[in-house]
Amino acid sequence: MSGRVPPGDYAGTSPHWLREPADVNALVPVLWSSTARKGDDGVLHIGGLAVPDLVADVNTPAYVLDEDDFRARARAFRDGFDGYDVFYAGKAFLSTAVARWVGEEGLCLDVCSNGELSVALRAGVDPARIGYHGNNKTAMELRRAVDAGVGRIIVDSFHEIERVADVAAQLGVTQGVMIRVTAGVEAHTHEFIATAHEDQKFGFSIASGAGLEAARRVLGHDSLALRGLHSHIGSQIFDTSGWEVAGRRVLGLHAEIAEELGHVMPELDLGGGFGIAYTTQDDPADPAVLAAQITKIVTGECAALGIDVPHLSIEPGRAIVGPSMCTVYTVGTVKEVTLDAGAVRTYVSVDGGMSDNIRPALYDADYSCTLASRASDATPVLARVVGKHCESGDIVVKDEFLPGDIAPGDLIAVPATGAYGRSMASNYNHALRPPVVAVKDGQARVIVRRETEDDLLATDLG
Ligand code: LLP
Repeated sequence: MSGRVPPGDYAGTSPHWLREPADVNALVPVLWSSTARKGDDGVLHIGGLAVPDLVADVNTPAYVLDEDDFRARARAFRDGFDGYDVFYAGKAFLSTAVARWVGEEGLCLDVCSNGELSVALRAGVDPARIGYHGNNKTAMELRRAVDAGVGRIIVDSFHEIERVADVAAQLGVTQGVMIRVTAGVEAHTHEFIATAHEDQKFGFSIASGAGLEAARRVLGHDSLALRGLHSHIGSQIFDTSGWEVAGRRVLGLHAEIAEELGHVMPELDLGGGFGIAYTTQDDPADPAVLAAQITKIVTGECAALGIDVPHLSIEPGRAIVGPSMCTVYTVGTVKEVTLDAGAVRTYVSVDGGMSDNIRPALYDADYSCTLASRASDATPVLARVVGKHCESGDIVVKDEFLPGDIAPGDLIAVPATGAYGRSMASNYNHALRPPVVAVKDGQARVIVRRETEDDLLATDLG
């Protein structure tokens, strides 16, 4: 189309990692769920369904969840981390259907709020296979969790130890607990930082001795059973160097508790945080490879300490649901904006935005996207996909090449939105949160419906 920026002339306007694709219609497989396909007509299919047909029923924006892909990723963690308990971190995305799939695939479930616990219980998840996190669980929330028979409560403060002990004593049960510790390691993507102390709200610091003191206090209560330590070092991590440092420190405390307090804890949880591909920059490892590396770190450290290897568990959220879901939007407007350097950026506005995916605005997160409703042989242009909210930071995909004839009415699909997309969605600007449609073998099932105006107005008492 005339007026569009000529190909190849994007110096300074596109990120270093973004390459103009050889075929702008093609999918980059690592970014998509396993059943995602495009035919010669450019129409995206997921779970055997054509996305344009799917959204003709449910409208856009919509999250499309590939059930087979979700289950396969859950199994890859279960089988890859053989001998571990794998707790799916429900904070990434949880619904009744998903909680059921998690149980059916043999995983346990990590919840971190009363609401998530409600979903888990409603789905019929065995409470003994639920772990309950959070740095400020109320007495009421704890009572409900203990009463429901939640297998492990991950305690996060001295106040909470007393609170859980009281609740369990009142209910006449012995509650399994784990102690959340901070190992002084913060890992993000390819880097980690190891420090002597930890300036954040979660857990008991190992370095300061708070972790040991927490164990002493837990062991002082007959109503509590100390099952182990818990350490979560960060999110969207690609290599295991952070676990190496954290593992050494956590197992050091594990051994110290046995030695000083005479209690050998049967378990150890190493948290979640395994990275996924949002763009071609990211290169996630296979769960079995991660498992081999982490197991080697733990067994090596246990051998050095002369202790038995505890029963291990992990808590992946993003790496299971993230790539299983994409978001489908309809293009509403297309605008060319001339930048200082004279280059042109094509702004493509879609019918969602920061209310259905806050991650670009909150974390400067990168995503990619593709034209999902047709093929195009137009020259690709450097585009920025933006939402419809009243905020300039309302970006859906910061940088992507899209066909130069992108136009109102086209569908755009953004892969890898499953983790923390719907779960952090909001009603900003009174947006209605989109539905989650599960697809499998040519069948679609709405597992979370779109909000309605009545939902919005129901809490406004006039
Ligand atoms: N376990 C614990 C104790 C956690 O705090 C978390 C995440 C997980 C497991 C799961 O981590 P995952 O495997 O999903 O990375 N909203 C942010 C992520 C916050 C993660 C908080 N904790 C985002 O959108 O990137």
